[in-house]
Amino acid sequence: VRERTLIAVKPDGVQRRLVGEIIKRFERRGFKLVGMKMLQASEAVLGKHYHDLQRKPFYPALIRYMASGPVVAMVWEGHNVVRSSRLMVGETDSSQAKPGTVRGDLSVHISRNIIHASDSVEVAKKEIGLWFHSAELINWETSD
Ligand code: CMP
Repeated sequence: VRERTLIAVKPDGVQRRLVGEIIKRFERRGFKLVGMKMLQASEAVLGKHYHDLQRKPFYPALIRYMASGPVVAMVWEGHNVVRSSRLMVGETDSSQAKPGTVRGDLSVHISRNIIHASDSVEVAKKEIGLWFHSAELINWETSD
């Protein structure tokens, strides 16, 4: 299935200069970058993005963390990219993430887990619509 997913390097990932490392992993895997921008996430976008977590005790800290610095938001396209990127990113709790995954190689704590990846095709569509205007997504092909 050809699909798209939202990947975001969170503020700790940007602060730790991990943007290139993360992009490299997705490019090497064979996925196609179709949108990318650096932004300071607004409370409005974060509120919608984390809507389902509103009642969690860690929610206020999560919003503060995500607003603590710039985020690099990307849309990646490819065969089964939603599922594959979840596997590449690793468990939410970085301390449980397997070596070889982004979190398992580069982070140690659940509340500083450096990267976001959409968890289903449906959620990916919503998240891409929340973070990007359609004109910011480029349909490019490799020319031959
Ligand atoms: P992610 O899965 O990308 O999106 C939800 C985020 O909430 C998750 O990453 C963590 O950053 C954060 N989170 C989830 N569970 C906890 C927790 N128990 N304590 C702190 N942060 C959490």
